[in-house]
Amino acid sequence: MLKSIGTKSILFPLPVLLIGSYDEAEKADFMTASWGGVVSSDPQCLSVSVRPERYTYNNIRKNRAFSVCFPAVKHAEIADYCGIFSAKNTDKISDLNLKVSKSELANAPILDDFPVNIVCRTKTDFDMGTHTVFIGEIIDMLADPSVIGASGFPEIDKVDPMIYDLATKTYYSVGAPIMKAYTTKRKNK
Ligand SMILES: Cc1cc2nc3c(=O)[nH]c(=O)nc-3n(C[C@H](O)[C@H](O)[C@H](O)COP(=O)(O)O)c2cc1C
Repeated sequence: MLKSIGTKSILFPLPVLLIGSYDEAEKADFMTASWGGVVSSDPQCLSVSVRPERYTYNNIRKNRAFSVCFPAVKHAEIADYCGIFSAKNTDKISDLNLKVSKSELANAPILDDFPVNIVCRTKTDFDMGTHTVFIGEIIDMLADPSVIGASGFPEIDKVDPMIYDLATKTYYSVGAPIMKAYTTKRKNK
């Protein structure tokens, strides 16, 4: 029998994202975020939830733009580092020797060696308790050709993205495919 276990802001699986932004001196910062997702397909929008104490917060506020980069499993330590240390105290870009360029469409940094970078312009934002939710309209996607499939978009097995488990504070990789979606037939017909 199921039992009531209390409550926690939890979903499976949570993504591991790096949110890129520029500060007033045009210095790039990347912050790890798991609290993000897709919110709309028209307009094409993503959400990221950022606490106001993050250095990233004022950067996004100022620029009304940010990037969302997908680390691959091989970038796990980089992703963890960007989730522990703040640009308030260190330069994560030089600490990690990251190669960064600037989006041609918005004031947002791109991680050149990451498989996928999404460039967003902030459409709206609102405070929700501990976090501010930034809704970003996707204005560009940059992908390494090696992760692009027949659909013309990045494919999960090629990207090899990271997953975060909030309950155990552990990173996972994606498992094996189960079946094609939208293929199940109606029963008793
Ligand atoms: C796995 C993981 C997920 C995280 N998710 C979020 C998040 O969704 N929102 C947030 O505000 N902070 C999140 N953090 C914490 C920030 O990444 C961390 O405070 C970081 O140092 C902020 O960097 P900044 O001050 O340079 O912006 C997460 C950290 C980790 C390790």
